[in-house]
Amino acid sequence: DSPTGQQTKQQSRTHDSAFLKACRREPVPHTPVWFMRQAGRSLPEYLKVREGIPMLESCMRPELVTEITLQPVRRHKVDAAIYFSDIVVPLKAIGLDLDIKPGVGPVVADPIRTRADLDRLRDLTPDDVHYVTEAIGMLTEELGDTPLIGFAGAPFTLASYLVEGGPSRSHERTKAMMYGDPQLWADLLDRLAGITSAFLKVQIEAGASAVQLFDSWVGALAPADYRRSVLPASAKVFDAVAGHGVPRIHFGVGTGELLGLMGEAGADVVGVDWRVPLDEAARRVGPGKALQGNLDPAVLFASTEVVEAKADEVLAAAKGLEGHVFNLGHGVMPSMDPDALTRLVAHVHERTAV
Ligand code: CP3
Repeated sequence: DSPTGQQTKQQSRTHDSAFLKACRREPVPHTPVWFMRQAGRSLPEYLKVREGIPMLESCMRPELVTEITLQPVRRHKVDAAIYFSDIVVPLKAIGLDLDIKPGVGPVVADPIRTRADLDRLRDLTPDDVHYVTEAIGMLTEELGDTPLIGFAGAPFTLASYLVEGGPSRSHERTKAMMYGDPQLWADLLDRLAGITSAFLKVQIEAGASAVQLFDSWVGALAPADYRRSVLPASAKVFDAVAGHGVPRIHFGVGTGELLGLMGEAGADVVGVDWRVPLDEAARRVGPGKALQGNLDPAVLFASTEVVEAKADEVLAAAKGLEGHVFNLGHGVMPSMDPDALTRLVAHVHERTAV
């Protein structure tokens, strides 16, 4: 695909940012920082603008999306913005009956469990998500040289919500389909890979400078099952967005045993949760990839001294890496003190300034 004007403009404007340099494994002026789930959650200014507007509806309002995406950049001085949306937005956009219940998460009215159900998963066109193109156009003007990260849910994590009908701890119906009807499973993941690829391309063409594929729940799988039943679909997504000149980040929780395979799926940057130190993660991932992570989010509930000491441990483990993007090992929690996050960004910047 030839790049759009907005894509070229935004990519050259953000090219020399610390975040994109770290993703490309080039020397950086300081270690870049951003936080998964930095938009929304604990910010009072977020709760204020969201008042009375359901989550999925707020994702379809470009002005609101722009404001919410910018809030953590203004407040915390993070090195990148992440587009305010949700992993189920493209599924809603192709007409699935689903909602995000506060305190619960995505809930699907009619779960996908049979071959006939697959027909409800049609391809996504840019028109289905015109508000994303609009919002990113507005956003990138406001962001200037700060990169915007686009994102999507990976096929496995999306499949889990669709097959279970909602959040699940053990993913039992999902795994039952994966083990019991491998062909139906492969076809489901392949369709989801197509939808996810199309959704990421919309974001890149509108001006996103990087993309992250969230496979939040894939840590529930053994490596051999991941390789056989999930990796091909995730690799299809990474292939579809290769050659656009934007770094591709791949993240999941509890994925210590899968880090090598998640890199193999095609990522340029592998996200690591807090269970594996970054030097060990680098051995598991192998050369040629940057790492992102990995402070335990729960540390933010301790004193400033503890937060800074634990952040220094992360930086020490990252010392020999070619490229490091500082992040939490999972998302910001709603009850976190926003000031603790602001102080953490300043601390990492100070400690790593050259
Ligand atoms: O990172 C950001 O700040 C950008 C926004 C973003 C949201 N969801 C907004 C949101 C991103 C990147 C996501 C991704 C997402 N959504 C993931 C992958 C990331 C991860 O944490 O592992 C997953 C698994 C989902 C599904 C989902 N949506 C969950 C589990 C929840 C939380 C339910 C709850 O209330 O506890 C949501 C809802 C959601 N997505 C909220 C926000 C700000 C809260 C909605 C609200 O406040 O009404």
